Amino acid sequence: MTQRQRILTGDTPTGRLHLGHLVGSLENRVRLQAIHECYFLIANIHAFTTRADQPATIRRDTFEIIRDYLAVGIDPAQATFVVQSEIPAIAELTVLLAMLLPYQRVMRNPTLNHELETKGLAEHYSFGFPLYAVGQCADILAFRGQLVPVGEDQLAHIEMCREVARRFNQTYQREVFPIPEPLVGRVPRLVGTDGKHKMSKSLDNAIFLSDDTATIKAKVGKLYTGRQSIDEPGDPDNALFQYVRTFLPEDAPELAARYARGGIGDGAIKQQVAAAVDRLLAPIRERRRASPDEARLVELLREHTRRANAVADVTLREAKAAMCLGL
Ligand code: TRP
Repeated sequence: MTQRQRILTGDTPTGRLHLGHLVGSLENRVRLQAIHECYFLIANIHAFTTRADQPATIRRDTFEIIRDYLAVGIDPAQATFVVQSEIPAIAELTVLLAMLLPYQRVMRNPTLNHELETKGLAEHYSFGFPLYAVGQCADILAFRGQLVPVGEDQLAHIEMCREVARRFNQTYQREVFPIPEPLVGRVPRLVGTDGKHKMSKSLDNAIFLSDDTATIKAKVGKLYTGRQSIDEPGDPDNALFQYVRTFLPEDAPELAARYARGGIGDGAIKQQVAAAVDRLLAPIRERRRASPDEARLVELLREHTRRANAVADVTLREAKAAMCLGL
């Protein structure tokens, strides 16, 4: 039998979760929650890095994500939800870890730089923006996460977390932190409906877990392939076919062969893809509709916050002791 491991991963509340989250990470979480000790974190402080002026929206999106978690089948009796702002040990650990990470190293983090580019943050970003990457190390290490289920875009953060964990253990001569391993889902990077970029809420190319049948159809229908006519041989490696392989895995080989020969239209394939996505999302949508009201969710989160703080406080105490801090 495998040993029960600590799992930590999370999402920034900047909107609802989408298909990319489902196949990149959520499926893994649902599978692992029965086997391992799981912590699923809502990074609401990270949301302030770019939206400090929108506190009410961040709060609303925090609840939206909890509803998505419950809808995909995360069981609050098995896993613990962590609301980042309610865990003081994370903030304190962020400051301590920041001393062990060279400034230039943080600023070279490719995920940070990619975000600076794609989100058009240019020279205007807050001091807190690059700090969030250090904060993400603290999220993982506060819970002594060993396995971190994430999409491919997060690997640079996990690598930085591994570095800082090693440096801490070495510098203070104590094995306070395990070195976490990333776990990428069955589709590391699902392309968005623009046919080009990673599916992302901020790029307006996402199919949300809560989208209804008509919306799914319309969004899949718009998926850009660049193909001109039905007679033109299709490229079975294009964006549409990533959807075929992801959502119609059994039909994919035959459809790909026909597509490459020409004679089958994008429209016919899109219809099948939309129907498959709809079948996948229908039960999630149903469960989401039946999710508890906000007062009940607050109650649940308070209970989980107590559980989470009990764990993170122990880590912080050991980290500070290793650093000769505390009286
Ligand atoms: N940065 C992640 C995202 O936007 C969210 C996140 C915050 C996270 N803390 C984490 C993911 C810790 C994994 C582990 O998707």
